[in-house]
Amino acid sequence: MLLTQSVCSDYYLYWRADILMSGEIIFNRLQDIFFRPKPFSVYTTGELWTDDYTSQRMLENHLDGASDLSSRGFDFIDRSVDWMINHFNIKEDISVADFGCGPGLYTSRLAKTGARVTGIDFSLRSIEYARQYAASNNLNIRYIHQDYLNFESFERFDLITMIYCDYSALSPSQRKTMLDKFASLLTVDGKILLDVHSCAGFDLLEESVICGRNLMNGFWSPRDYFGFKNTFKYPDVKVSLDKYTLIEEDRIRTIYNWLQYFDRDSIRAEFEQSGLMIESFPGDVAGGLYSPESPVFAVIASLE
Ligand SMILES: C[S@@+](CC[C@H](N)C(=O)[O-])C[C@H]1O[C@@H](n2cnc3c(N)ncnc32)[C@H](O)[C@@H]1O
Repeated sequence: MLLTQSVCSDYYLYWRADILMSGEIIFNRLQDIFFRPKPFSVYTTGELWTDDYTSQRMLENHLDGASDLSSRGFDFIDRSVDWMINHFNIKEDISVADFGCGPGLYTSRLAKTGARVTGIDFSLRSIEYARQYAASNNLNIRYIHQDYLNFESFERFDLITMIYCDYSALSPSQRKTMLDKFASLLTVDGKILLDVHSCAGFDLLEESVICGRNLMNGFWSPRDYFGFKNTFKYPDVKVSLDKYTLIEEDRIRTIYNWLQYFDRDSIRAEFEQSGLMIESFPGDVAGGLYSPESPVFAVIASLE
């Protein structure tokens, strides 16, 4: 009887210690998950777009003409390219560079005018798709598989584009790098067209936490996982963060999606620091009308 009691209490103590230990581990891990990092203090964009599995899911979204997830829907893209061709007079002998071109939805359409088109993207999966599409459709497009932050060229471009609010995903120093680069790559009369998230979009956003098994229908891994999405807002600097923590049996990953929100004055100030002048603010990259209530707006700029 005594022996049984002792075994029971040893087991009870062991069991309590085990619970306390795992409680501490789980508590600390949850603290990490809920931790609010400083704006733009970590850059993981590459993991989102170049990971073997998620890049395949991204490509499927790009090519689903009805989805707005990775690219805008094909109706919008058709309208946007028609507007660009007219507005910027794109034709043979005009050179265009598209930064973050993805699988070439804009570059392919623009190249049909006979313009000399270059697309830059660090997703090998997207660039390979774009190259194959260009080859089978006889389109003369130069695709460069590279981080655009490191892109250099002796060529000068009449039109530089960065579409689907990629500019908003960059930190202040990365944005300065890109604008200096754009200024050095433009022809004398060249134009820049890009779109950004607006302060109206920031106001619509709410801080939140969602979690679930195989969060986002298995988007993050082909294996079983638990996912957290913590959305943080930084009102003083108009930045938001979607922080994804993805927990598989043998690995934990954290992906940080930062977004900077602009008004017309804040983006004008950034462009001016790189010797660029904003000519107009369309509502979008299809030439829509600017509205202060819209969550995005576009920018057309040139050298000062
Ligand atoms: C939101 S998608 C938009 C793609 C394309 N502009 C469109 O609208 O169809 C962003 C693209 O930028 C690329 N990208 C993001 N950061 C990049 C970087 N630092 N260097 C090169 N490509 C980048 C991604 O791989 C992805 O293809």
